[in-house]
Amino acid sequence: MTEAPRPATNLQIPDDLSGIAAEQYRAAMRHYPAGVTIITLSSPNGPVGFTATSFASLSLEPPLVSFNIAHTSSSITALLDADSVVIHFLGEHQQHLAQRFARTAEERFVDRSLWTTLDTDEPVLHGTPIWVRATLQQLIPIGDHTLTVGLVTRVHDNTDETPIAAPLLYYKGHYHRPTSLNE
Ligand SMILES: Cc1cc2nc3c(=O)[nH]c(=O)nc-3n(C[C@H](O)[C@H](O)[C@H](O)COP(=O)(O)O)c2cc1C
Repeated sequence: MTEAPRPATNLQIPDDLSGIAAEQYRAAMRHYPAGVTIITLSSPNGPVGFTATSFASLSLEPPLVSFNIAHTSSSITALLDADSVVIHFLGEHQQHLAQRFARTAEERFVDRSLWTTLDTDEPVLHGTPIWVRATLQQLIPIGDHTLTVGLVTRVHDNTDETPIAAPLLYYKGHYHRPTSLNE
């Protein structure tokens, strides 16, 4: 009989860490490129949002996505209380938003011309090529982050608009746009 996978919460990490230094880990991770998202939600104290590259597509049936939020994040209390989020897949023209949503939390939503609110209350950033709404299913604290799993309930796709916006990427501490090898 196949052994059932162990739940992630049983994670056992020795006290002396894993044998590599934090610097070594950080230096290696810089070389892994990632798409840039902004995750937004509504809270009793107003809109909340942060830039995140930890987004991943997790499952097709059912349609699940995941991302990780740092335990030190000013957004974590609101996220733990929220029922849903909107995940924006940023275009290359939205680098300023990626920067804004990684800086001072109080200033992220100050410019009212940058966003609107869905009928389900989450803030949505104008001009985003694709955004998905997801209801939160599981919040799993692991290490210094919480792995968050959401069920996609709505997809908003603007990618048939012209000019087509290339996705915004983050790599080695800088923002990039992709270059195709096949054209
Ligand atoms: C490119 C980039 C990717 C990021 N990815 C994440 C992420 O996946 N999860 C996370 O919790 N914070 C991530 N952050 C950090 C947050 O955007 C934010 O800067 C941080 O939470 C500090 O905000 P705070 O002062 O509101 O806590 C990322 C920042 C940048 C610039």
